[in-house]
Formats: sequence, C-alpha cells, structure tokens
Amino acid sequence: MDEGQGLHVVIIGAGIGGLASALALAKHGIHRIDVYEVASNLGFVGAGIQLAPNMVRILQRLGCWEPIAREATELKIASIRQSSDDKELSRVDFAHIEERYGTPHMLYNACKEEKAISFHFNSSCTIKSWEPRPVYTVTPLDGAPYDGHADVVLAADGIKSSVRSRILKELDVDAEITDSGQSAYRIMLTRAQMANDPEMLELLESDQVTRWIGEQRHVIAYPISNKTIYNISTAHPDIHFAAAPSATYTTRGSKEDMLDSFKDFCPVVQRMLNLVPDGEVCEWKLRVHSPLPTWVGGCVALVGDACHPTLPHLAQGAAQAIEDAGVLAVVLSMLPNQSPSSINKALKIYEFLRKERAETLVDLAAASGRALHLGEGAEREQRDKQFAALVRLKKGPNPDKYLDAEVQEMIMGTDVMKIAQDEMRRALEVGID
Ligand SMILES: Cc1cc2nc3c(=O)[nH]c(=O)nc-3n(C[C@H](O)[C@H](O)[C@H](O)COP(=O)(O)OP(=O)(O)OC[C@H]3O[C@@H](n4cnc5c(N)ncnc54)[C@H](O)[C@@H]3O)c2cc1C
Ligand SMILES: *[C@@H]1O[C@H](CO)[C@@H](O)[C@H](O)[C@H]1NC(C)=O
Ligand SMILES: *[C@@H]1O[C@H](CO)[C@@H](O)[C@H](O)[C@H]1NC(C)=O
Ligand SMILES: *[C@@H]1O[C@H](CO)[C@@H](O)[C@H](O)[C@H]1NC(C)=O
Repeated sequence: MDEGQGLHVVIIGAGIGGLASALALAKHGIHRIDVYEVASNLGFVGAGIQLAPNMVRILQRLGCWEPIAREATELKIASIRQSSDDKELSRVDFAHIEERYGTPHMLYNACKEEKAISFHFNSSCTIKSWEPRPVYTVTPLDGAPYDGHADVVLAADGIKSSVRSRILKELDVDAEITDSGQSAYRIMLTRAQMANDPEMLELLESDQVTRWIGEQRHVIAYPISNKTIYNISTAHPDIHFAAAPSATYTTRGSKEDMLDSFKDFCPVVQRMLNLVPDGEVCEWKLRVHSPLPTWVGGCVALVGDACHPTLPHLAQGAAQAIEDAGVLAVVLSMLPNQSPSSINKALKIYEFLRKERAETLVDLAAASGRALHLGEGAEREQRDKQFAALVRLKKGPNPDKYLDAEVQEMIMGTDVMKIAQDEMRRALEVGID
C-alpha cells in the first residue's frame, strides 16, 4: 500500500495551484517533488486573495493556516447598492463567512519547510511526450534545455497553460479561450488616504462588504487587514484592452479611463477611485475558456486556472485550485503501485471529482456577473424584486451568487478531500491496476 509515496512528481508553475499541490503532496508523504517556475522569484501581482472557508479547511490540514488566521477581518453584512444613487437594494446578513486573506507567500514558506520539495526558478518547463511515462523539457533562463522523466506531471501553469494546448492538440480537440469582454481594476486604499472623508471612513470601519452595481459594471469593496486597508475591485467592459495584443492580461491602466468607466456611479465611489495615485492603476483582463473535454492525458494532469479559469465574481479561483491540490494529494498518495495505468486511473478520479464542481462554479460566476450587470428593463426589475424580498423574508435566492445561501452551502459545505478518500478506497476495492 501507499506506493504512491515513492512517486516522482513534477509540478509546472509556482502559483497558488502549484504551491498548494506541492505542499499537499509533501504532507501526504510523497518525497520527490520538483517545482519549475519560469519567473525569477515569487513576485506576485496584487497583495492577497480572499480565502473562502472551503480552502481554509484544506489549508488547516496542510498546517499553514495559523499565520493567516491572525489577520482575519470578520464581515457580517453584505450591502448591495444601486450604483447611480447609492440606494440600498438588498442587505444580507452573512456573519457565517469570515473573510480572511493571505498571499501565496504563506504557501511558499510552508513548502520551503518540506525536504521533499525542490524549487527551480528561472526555468520554463513543458511536456515533451507522455507515453508511457511523461518526459518534460526544462529551459533554464541562462542555460541549455534538458529533458527529464517523471512519474506524474501536474501542470499548474495558469490560464495561458502550454500543457493544456499540448494535451488538447494530442487529443485533436480544441477549447478556445473565450473573451469575457470584462476587465477589472484592483485597488487598495489605506486608512491614511481615506482619513479626510467621513463617509469613506465609515465604510472602512464597517463590518460590511459593499457592492455597487450598474449596467455592465460593478464595484465591490470591503475592509481588510484589521480595517487598515479598504480593498476595492471592479468589473467593467474591457474597452481599453482593444488595442492590446491578445496575450496581454494585465496593463498599466490610465486613471482617466478608470474614472470615465465609473462616471455614472455615485459620488462616494468616484471619490474613492480618485484617490488612486496616477500611474498606479492596474487593469486585469478577465479571460475564461470553454470547458475542456478532459484535464488528464496519461500521467499528466492540469491544475487550477490551467483547467478552470473563473471570473472573480465568486472569489473562488484560488480556492478551487487549492481543492484540486487537496484531491490530487489524496488520490496519488493512496496508489497501490506506480504503473502508468494506475496513475492515469487516479488522475481520472481527480478529474471526475473536481471537473463538474469547478465548472459549475465557472458557470455560476458568469451568471452572477450577468445578473449584476443588467441594464434597465424587465429583467432588472425582477432581479431587484428578488433583492428586496431577501431583506423582507430573510431568505430566498440571491441574484448575487456570491451571497446566495444555497450556493454558499454547496461551496463551503463540501469536503473534497474526504470525498476523494472515500472514492479512492472504493476504487482500490475493485482494483485500480
Ligand atoms: C482580478 C482578479 C481577482 C481575483 N480574486 C480572487 C479572489 O478573491 N479569490 C480567489 O480565490 N481567486 C481570485 N482570483 C483568481 C486567482 O487569482 C486564480 O484563480 C489563481 O491565482 C490561479 O492560480 P494558478 O496557480 O492556477 O495559476 P497562476 O497563478 O496563473 O500561476 C501559474 C504559474 O505558472 C507559471 N508558468 C506558466 N507557464 C510556465 C511554464 N511553461 N514553465 C514554468 N512556469 C510557468 C507562471 O509564471 C505562474 O507563476 C482573482 C483573479 C483575478 C484576475
Ligand atoms: C533568476 O535570474 C535572475 C537574473 O539572472 C537572477 O537575478 C535571480 O537571482 C535568479 N533567481 C533564482 C531564484 O535563481
Ligand atoms: C480584494 O478584492 C478582490 C475582489 O473581490 C479580490 O479578488 C481580492 O482577493 C481581495 N483582496 C483581499 C486581500 O481580500
Ligand atoms: C486590530 O485593530 C485594533 C484597533 O485598532 C487593535 O486593538 C487590535 O490589536 C488589532 N489587531 C491586530 C491583530 O492587529
């Protein structure tokens, strides 16, 4: 039993998906893990991500939750407001969600404690072939390319994944990257920046997440870092990307364009956006792709944004990458032998357990965006009636799926690692090789 622990696993990419996979595998006893990352170090964009409770459970098991827990900011209320006049459309008690945030650095620090994990920065990596065992090619920044053999390759190489293209090409299918037509600004204001504006200070000191919604765009904001920082992000049509090459995902935005995008929003939102220093506006293009026919080719599997990029409206992208990691660690560590066909079966179980759930969330995030961004008309009236009913009845469907009780239950109430263990046990009883 547990022959899986002797596997040599190569991970491509040291984003959240790659780091969480490396850590989860090491914690499950797998003792040879090589992580290749094209970047020179972990200089991540952005300050942190929201940590939903479903990823908390997994991070706890991986022993890197403590440092994060100390930074918790508890949000009790969600307020949905009409962008034009700040009128409250709905107000939802969501005290059961404790918003915490962390950066991939906590995962990296935990990985560095594990002897099993070796990091190779400045090293681009891709798949060369995978029959019967995967062969990968590493191209160091300043050196000659070399090939290596692994038992398993996990491609956590992000939305632009080259391994995904490779797998799909081999299978002779394509899944196009689709343009969501949306992009996002991410902004953090400090207490000092907001200090002279009582209305803003009140927002910073609240236990509230606020969403201002308007046609084709919205702004979501809440206090983080023990209320020393107000975290704002937007979604809006990506017209400023029109001229950018299709490979571009982030761009230095113009403040003028940003203000122009939200010129119909109420004064407090405009004042907040106006506080962003010139030259510090960063705009993200939000890309997704159609569901893939498979996440697995032989002993190679896709992880994270490489296989399920999700619009940020549910704040679940990173959480889903961490669920991938937790499930992969369970199924691989339980393998009774190291034959490629057993590994492939374990990876297929990973795909079976993760694909439908991740894709459901991809769809829900997109649906939520559509509902939030409705323009005037019958549909919007219907939506606003639902928002109002939530205040009156304290229950019912929420058009903002991030706040919908049923969706929350589905996301938070599922222990994917436990399910993976049960599923793997069942498979082992029948015989996996
Ligand atoms: C505006 C915005 C807001 C978001 N907010 C949230 C949120 O609040 N909560 C949340 O859970 N998620 C959020 N997300 C999503 C989240 O950031 C992603 O889902 C998550 O980071 C994906 O991690 P990943 O490891 O799969 O991919 P990535 O983070 O893209 O990592 C891929 C890594 O692979 C490396 N790489 C690529 N190709 C190669 C190669 N050939 N060789 C070696 N290395 C390679 C890259 O350099 C990179 O480091 C947000 C996303 C956006 C755009
Ligand atoms: C990556 O390469 C850069 C430039 O050569 C170098 O400064 C950096 O130290 C390298 N990173 C690592 C982790 O070796
Ligand atoms: C800030 O808000 C954006 C949008 O909700 C989110 O993606 C990001 O993770 C948040 N950052 C923190 C630190 O919560
Ligand atoms: C958070 O801020 C409050 C009020 O300023 C302070 O009393 C508390 O110690 C802070 N907590 C942490 C963990 O920094």
